[in-house]
Amino acid sequence: MNSLSIKNFSKQYPNGVKALSNISLEISDGMFGLLGPNGAGKSTLMRTIATLQRPDSGSLFFNGINIHSEHTKLRRLLGYLPQEFGVYPNESAERLLNYFGILKGISSVKERRSKIQEVLELTNLFDVRKNAVSDYSGGMRQRFGIAQLLLNDPKLIIVDEPTAGLDPAERRRFLNLLREISQDTVVIFSTHLVEDVTELCQNLAMINKGMVLMEGTPTNIVQNIETNIWTCDIATDKLSEYKTKYSVLSSSFTPQQKLRVRVFSRSQPSPEFTLSTASLEDAYFLILQITEAEHA
Ligand SMILES: Nc1ncnc2c1ncn2[C@@H]1O[C@H](COP(=O)(O)OP(=O)(O)OP(=O)(O)O)[C@@H](O)[C@H]1O
Ligand SMILES: [Mg+2]
Repeated sequence: MNSLSIKNFSKQYPNGVKALSNISLEISDGMFGLLGPNGAGKSTLMRTIATLQRPDSGSLFFNGINIHSEHTKLRRLLGYLPQEFGVYPNESAERLLNYFGILKGISSVKERRSKIQEVLELTNLFDVRKNAVSDYSGGMRQRFGIAQLLLNDPKLIIVDEPTAGLDPAERRRFLNLLREISQDTVVIFSTHLVEDVTELCQNLAMINKGMVLMEGTPTNIVQNIETNIWTCDIATDKLSEYKTKYSVLSSSFTPQQKLRVRVFSRSQPSPEFTLSTASLEDAYFLILQITEAEHA
């Protein structure tokens, strides 16, 4: 069992932005989702775990390796796919993987060949291995990103917003691939989409303004607000009135052109409301609302 242990980690950028404040997380094998809006601090956290940035304070350990001071040891076990991967050269997937394999120190030609075949098959790119990666679709490129990071059999995989820009079918395919490789590996991925973490993550952390605001299994998180989500249908021009009176989490149109509002409340807010089944999205919107209000 692999384990990543982060304790009281803080990071401030030279321009004064406090990107992370006192983060503590214990993460073991499986899929771990880092859910947060733009600027929450997801990439900062991931870059630090990937040894590309130093923490100001706190400790980060993976399987007993000090991430802060043992870069080389950690990198041998690490697979990292950054948020912006840059431009791919006009080379076939197979050739590029061969270069990456050499860079990662797989010196035997035979060993490299078999490893490349294995990762191409796993990521479903074997049939298009002769095509230029620069001509791949967004989803295929993301899968290629996974193929290259799998070459050195990483035990800690970090992928930063991998589903951004993917269509629903590719997104599902990509997340299933991550799920498959997370059996005996720590896989951390970030997203701002609740649906990415709802089904596939064993554990997740919701982060905003550089803080971990809630952490646990999707089921546990929803249980916290199980009997606190209420809904009712209102005329569209009533929305601002409801927003001042109640803690409105979200609203959506009904076929009758009314607005169905979802409200957080410990007890029935007023007789027109009915109790609704709480969702992970409700929990996320609630967390965001609380932190935004505190920082307003
Ligand atoms: N190199 C940097 N120098 C200064 N400030 C930075 C730097 N990188 C990030 N920040 C700031 O730190 C905060 C956290 O940024 P970060 O990129 O970690 O967030 P994020 O959750 O990855 O956001 P996104 O969803 O937009 O990728 C933001 O306020 C951002 O502007
Ligand atoms: Mg980011």
